[in-house]
Amino acid sequence: MSNNYYQSNGSEVALFKQAATQRVPVMLTGPTGCGKTRFVEYMGEVLGRDVVTISCHDDLTSSDLVGRFMVTGGDVVWNDGPLTRAVKSGAICYMDEVVEARHDSLAVLHSLTDHRRTLYLDRAGEVVTAPDSFMLVCSYNPAYRSSLKELKPSFRQRFVTVAMTYLPPEREAEVLVSEAGIDLSAAKRLVNCAMSIRKADDIFHFEPPSTRVLVTAAKLVAAGASELEAAEVCILAPLSNDGAINDGLRELASASLLGAATKRVDAGGVKA
Ligand SMILES: Nc1ncnc2c1ncn2[C@@H]1O[C@H](COP(=O)(O)OP(=O)(O)O)[C@@H](O)[C@H]1O
Ligand SMILES: [Mg+2]
Repeated sequence: MSNNYYQSNGSEVALFKQAATQRVPVMLTGPTGCGKTRFVEYMGEVLGRDVVTISCHDDLTSSDLVGRFMVTGGDVVWNDGPLTRAVKSGAICYMDEVVEARHDSLAVLHSLTDHRRTLYLDRAGEVVTAPDSFMLVCSYNPAYRSSLKELKPSFRQRFVTVAMTYLPPEREAEVLVSEAGIDLSAAKRLVNCAMSIRKADDIFHFEPPSTRVLVTAAKLVAAGASELEAAEVCILAPLSNDGAINDGLRELASASLLGAATKRVDAGGVKA
């Protein structure tokens, strides 16, 4: 069985395979916690390739990516960075939240993302051509970003863009069952709770609750927390620091949890 359980949400698996066959880079977009990282790990397994993950941040330099000379025991030795290691070993290099990296640090990717598929290690005087199995995959969350940080269109156009989003509620509930071992009806109530907040998202303007927070809530429920408690600490509390908004959200959440619970009791009653 696969170590990376992944519930597909459309044609992303086929697209990723096609991009891998044609050796073109992939850009995954979508809200935080919607399954981007899980998807890449899963595809690594499907394609039989290692995944080297680089978490991007604004201090990331091109040397952090490609490597640098270091002094070891009196000698000056070149040390490959994670990108170079991924290229040399023909792995999938996954650059998470690539929008966080500075544009000048990303320039080293250009020759890797076009027909050349080559990495120039100027300082080491080395030119590395990527084997066929090397694949560059980047991800970022286009929404809820400060307008200060944007990827250049010219950079984005180097990639096949796979837009990801949350699974439909039924399938998302299955993820909770699989990841946390709770029963399907409890999973559906938690998803229902997140859905009510996601729908209100237009009013609130915050990053909506993700599949990740739902999985965490489900794990607490599996460990004995009540659904309301788990929803409070995992789904609601991280959303906003505004007391009034939180009260409104709490009402929404408890109504959706209890509403679903009441319906369940009613249904049971009808059957009996
Ligand atoms: N399609 C999916 N199939 C299986 N698990 C998923 C899926 N989407 C999200 N998850 C669950 O949500 C968690 C967070 O997903 P992750 O891939 O880390 O999100 P992202 O990288 O988009 O922020 C995963 O660890 C997994 O438990
Ligand atoms: Mg991720």
